Amino acid sequence: MRIEAAKSLKGVVLVPGDKSISHRALMLSALASGVSTITGLSQGEDVQATKQIIEQLGATTEISDGQLKVFGPDQGLRASAQELYCGNSGTTMRLLAGLLGGVSGHHVLTGDESLSRRPMNRVATPLRQMGLTIEGTGENTVAPLKIVSPSSLKAISYVVPVVSSQVKSAILLAALFAEGPSSVTENIRTRRHTEEMLQQAGVAITVMNSAEGRVIEIQPGRPLALEWDVPADPSQAAFFAVLGVIHPEASIEIPHVYFAPERVGYVNVLRRMGADIAIDQSNELADLIVSSSSLRATSIHANEIPSVDEVPILVVAACAAQGSTHFEAMGELRIKESDRFAQSVALARALGATVTVSGDDFMVEGLGSASNFRSFLFEAGLDHRMVMASAVAGIAGAGVELDDVSTVASSYPSFFSDVDALK
Ligand code: S3P
Repeated sequence: MRIEAAKSLKGVVLVPGDKSISHRALMLSALASGVSTITGLSQGEDVQATKQIIEQLGATTEISDGQLKVFGPDQGLRASAQELYCGNSGTTMRLLAGLLGGVSGHHVLTGDESLSRRPMNRVATPLRQMGLTIEGTGENTVAPLKIVSPSSLKAISYVVPVVSSQVKSAILLAALFAEGPSSVTENIRTRRHTEEMLQQAGVAITVMNSAEGRVIEIQPGRPLALEWDVPADPSQAAFFAVLGVIHPEASIEIPHVYFAPERVGYVNVLRRMGADIAIDQSNELADLIVSSSSLRATSIHANEIPSVDEVPILVVAACAAQGSTHFEAMGELRIKESDRFAQSVALARALGATVTVSGDDFMVEGLGSASNFRSFLFEAGLDHRMVMASAVAGIAGAGVELDDVSTVASSYPSFFSDVDALK
């Protein structure tokens, strides 16, 4: 697919409902007894995979007036005889592994080619300590995963050894079914949706922040059925934020964005680089207006962007900046939907930037402006964020030819039509 540069970009873009909150709203509604409603659910394939799986496990759903109703069975979820297909979605597979701790019996979790390469040992290790049997392939325990859940689980105190909300969340979901209170410690604070939403759903949970991390204590319990309202996804907003900032003729408004510190580190980075981003914030929501800006280089440590989802698009910003941007401790990029470390470096080089790699760090020598980007070819593979990052670079610069853009449907099916509406 050939994507041309845009002359100017103006208007409002309503990015999809947050993917992380959508997965969790579905899972907590399925665990609850009775009717929950979800407004603003992400329509991406990742979230649809979670929806289909909770239905296989015995929840029923119904769409009315643009809202999704989820009926959680009184007697709880039950094992499915069919395999549970998670598609491209790591969040589905990792969180579900924990949730299935409370669904006694045998389960098989599968995924697409990309997901079948991603390490599941990070969730398998703590969940095995809680009493689940989890079998995968190789030392990283890759899918298909065969899971056997016992009738009761052991409580656990676990320090998450990597920076991962998915690992924290898998343990918290399994801990709902444990024989006593569990605790999970993270050394760097990651997205807080699971603990926050469990608390809203009436589960006894306490959260204590330490210097940079947090400790969560959770009692076993059943979430209550609730009405969930899913705000716009800040990680999708990031593509339009960078597009608006690096395009020479742009002003883009992005309303109703979920805006808690663990998710919007990229906004601080962009502002530090000189980006013109107006933020009208109230509580955990913000309306953003981004406008064309001249950027200067900065240093970005992975801890500033926990989960590193926004790093590929920040690499595009770094390519448009004046000076050398240092990306530090970016090893986690290698195990996402693709090797985003290699892919981000390849993208910057394709745009004409010079990149130096040293271990888990890399340095991007910016081209000073998106007007200096080359027209380029890119193979984004089965990675929605690499499709969108390279598309943004092409739209702001000199165009791009992408081999396959279909993976964008996993998180943002209307991405290209939303861009077109700004032209
Ligand atoms: C997610 C956590 C992140 C992120 C992913 C969604 C979540 O992964 O990359 O897109 O919803 O919990 P980590 O668990 O590696 O931080």
